[in-house]
Formats: sequence, structure tokens, C-alpha cells
Amino acid sequence: MTNEELMQLAKEVSQNAYVQYSHFPVGACILTENGKVYKGCNFENSSYGLTICAERNATGSAIADGEKSFKAIAIYSPKMKKCFPCGACRQVLSEFQANEGLDVVLEDENDGLIVYKLNEIFPEGFKL
Ligand code: THU
Repeated sequence: MTNEELMQLAKEVSQNAYVQYSHFPVGACILTENGKVYKGCNFENSSYGLTICAERNATGSAIADGEKSFKAIAIYSPKMKKCFPCGACRQVLSEFQANEGLDVVLEDENDGLIVYKLNEIFPEGFKL
């Protein structure tokens, strides 16, 4: 699975986001070390703090399927170029990165892809 294909899936799933309150859809798609792919979108709640981000939704699906080593995640919002994961999602993703690290794949201002390592955008995360 290429980064382009991963981003295409993130775009598709962003259309399912439930964003009644923010009107800010996000889609995320994770590629695991075993070559499996898991999608997630954000879903909000009238009790705002219960909102689940796209990245954590995708993470939950991967974990439920027994996948714990993530190679890449593509993140997309139609409302924002370079839609970086929030701090909470960075911490959650840091738990499941593959040995070679996790590639965070975003769409840039020219509709191309830009890739960051999670460690680069989230150094010194909390770890037990
Ligand atoms: N959101 C995500 O899904 N992922 C992020 O990393 C940042 C924020 C969602 C949460 C909320 O539904 C909306 O974007 C606006 O904050």
C-alpha cells in the first residue's frame, strides 16, 4: 500500500465523519507492519468533550483486530492542509509505532504528500 493509496482511503473515510458541532471532518488511515489497513473518522457528541478523533478511532479498530505495530498513518481534512494529529492522538499513536518509527502522512498546500516521523513531531512522549 502506497502513501497515496493510504491518503485516498483517509479522504474517503473523512466523508463519514460525524461533525455536527465543529463541521471539521477528519479521516485517518493506518497501515500496520502486517500490511493491514484500518480507517477511522472523528465523531462528535452533544457533550463536546466526548469527541473521538479520527486517529484514535482508527487506532481502536486496529487494536480490536489484534494489530499493534503501525508503520504509517495518513490524516486528512477537507478543511485544512497539513492536518497534524492533536497532542492526545500523538501520545496514543506513540504507543503503537513500529520499530522503524511511524510515518505521519499529510496532504500539503500543493495537494502533494508530506511525511513526518512521529518522533519528529512528538519527541519525548510519556512512556512507562
Ligand atoms: N480532530 C481529529 O479528528 N483529529 C485531530 O488530530 C484533531 C482534531 C477532530 C476533533 C473534532 O471533531 C474536530 O476535529 C475539531 O476539533
